[in-house]
Amino acid sequence: MYNGEKLNAKQFVEEQIAQIRTQVGGDVVILGLSGGVDSTVTAILINRAIGSRLHCIFVDHGLLRKHEFEDVLEHYKGLGLNVKGVRAADRFFAACKGITDPEAKRKAIGRTFIEVFNEEARAEKDARWLAQGTIWPDIAESHSDKGTVKSHHNVGGLPEEMKLGLVEPLKYLYKYEVREVGAELGLDSSFIGRHPFPGPGLGVRCLGELTPEKIAILQDADKIWIDALRESGWYDKVWQAAAIFVPVRTTGITDGRRTYDNVIALRAVNSVDAVTAEVVHLPWELLDKVQKDIIHNVKGVNRVVFDISSKPEATIEWE
Ligand code: XMP
Repeated sequence: MYNGEKLNAKQFVEEQIAQIRTQVGGDVVILGLSGGVDSTVTAILINRAIGSRLHCIFVDHGLLRKHEFEDVLEHYKGLGLNVKGVRAADRFFAACKGITDPEAKRKAIGRTFIEVFNEEARAEKDARWLAQGTIWPDIAESHSDKGTVKSHHNVGGLPEEMKLGLVEPLKYLYKYEVREVGAELGLDSSFIGRHPFPGPGLGVRCLGELTPEKIAILQDADKIWIDALRESGWYDKVWQAAAIFVPVRTTGITDGRRTYDNVIALRAVNSVDAVTAEVVHLPWELLDKVQKDIIHNVKGVNRVVFDISSKPEATIEWE
């Protein structure tokens, strides 16, 4: 935990359930699910405490991994969560139109998320509380004494007019502790082991202006990359992996013809808390297979590179 104490997951769960019940009483709580471990563990914990009075909203901003919205929504329903899926990709692309600066893009995505979420939340007339899957590194990085590194949209985005109290049961935990709590709550190990995925999703892995076409290319490349990591057994040995769409065109050759297409960068890092990260030394055979699969199967890409930078001084995400 942030104060250096060792986490006892069983005790933490019991204490949080009691605390949440005291905090929210008989009120309705709303929560935005992202498909990630943090918001899912938050939801299961609160669901344990107050059952179906937890109303979850899962927004599809169009920047999720390929088929992720449908797959994860099914999974949530299977977990017994009271969840509403909201498709809003068009609004996010419209809000990001013309924006190339990473922080401006994050803010546009964050703002749109809040707008969509607010509209859904307003329909929840009885809601008095907003739950969030904030964890300690989100807070530490967003309020660093050296200035904001990246403005994570799940911190400080509570809209004034909603007048909701905040429930953030995981806010003093590191990621590995959130996973311990998830295991204690009986969450499936394949879900617990999911790599961290940023709130703005592929939006911060697609450099420059976002378009549905670029995101579709990135989703295809990302799927090949993540599937290959899973199939080779590397997925669980990597803390976070990403494919990045680099809108720099380079010359290539396909069937004897010159091409002039985009670059996909692959990233795989190990970390404990995302504050520092080291590149994973993956086998060349695996990287070679992935580069071939991407270049042969993803139209618009003719070059794949592997990012060997550590954090610091690079960050994990490219934007
Ligand atoms: P960086 O790129 O700062 O990332 O080294 C550290 C960790 O934070 C995640 N990340 C984000 N998460 N909203 C999020 O919810 C964001 O805007 C955001 N930016 C980075 C990143 O995936 C990594 O796990």
